[in-house]
Amino acid sequence: MKLKTNYAIALGLTAILFIFYACRHELLNDLPANGNTGGNPPPTSTCSPDTAYFANDIMPIISSNCTMSGCHDNITHADGVNLTTYNNIIRYVRPGNAAESKLYKVIIKTNNDRMPPPPMPPLTAAQKALIQKWINQGAKNNNCIGQCDTAIFTYSGAVKPIMDNKCVGCHNPSNLGGNIDLSTYSAVRTSALNGKLYGSVAQQPGYSPMPKNGVKLPDCEIRQIQKWIAAGSLNN
Ligand code: HEC
Repeated sequence: MKLKTNYAIALGLTAILFIFYACRHELLNDLPANGNTGGNPPPTSTCSPDTAYFANDIMPIISSNCTMSGCHDNITHADGVNLTTYNNIIRYVRPGNAAESKLYKVIIKTNNDRMPPPPMPPLTAAQKALIQKWINQGAKNNNCIGQCDTAIFTYSGAVKPIMDNKCVGCHNPSNLGGNIDLSTYSAVRTSALNGKLYGSVAQQPGYSPMPKNGVKLPDCEIRQIQKWIAAGSLNN
């Protein structure tokens, strides 16, 4: 009798564990994949300059240029296109062949059909090249441990690259999210001085958490922004 009860309890626990893991797995897959790990297992290898990484390089560009409200987000999915997760993005990619990939073809167009559409600024040449490289390298759902160093906290060396890759798509003169521009030094400085820049990336109470609908910035990048502000938000 005792043995039977124990057996039933063990069976029940196994079932609960199974359900827990199944759900958890699904939840992780659905998380937006920008930021450092993006729902993937934590990265184990350091970033190689020869490789383009989905979580580190590609998802932040797509999050800040394509998935803003009214575009390819979970709610609007304009033209039926939702670009919030790896599994959704990969539907517009032919791994190994950027030239035949819809995702790449629309970003290099020069007419009004390009993405992001006018009056939004086009992706920069560097961003286009990174997406091309990632697709040609097999469009893997890969990530790596970044080279972020809190000892570097200049505008050009730390703050501007974060803004350009993770914020400017939603914060430029033709798409002023929250009426905030982060596309130039003087505009970023304004948000630094009024406390909103740090409050939003550190996701402090009273501020809209940024990047909107994305994964929080890695601690090291938040610290770089904080140190740049504390040192006087210089154009250095
Ligand atoms: C997908 C679009 C999107 C991205 C990406 C994004 N923002 Fe925003 N941001 C918005 C919108 C829209 C608002 C207006 C408030 C809101 O809707 O939450 C906003 C508001 C803000 C505010 C004002 C916050 C406040 O409480 O007044 C700051 C500062 C800000 N963003 C900074 C950033 C920074 C820094 C990044 C990059 C790390 C970033 N945003 C990325 C869309 C975005």
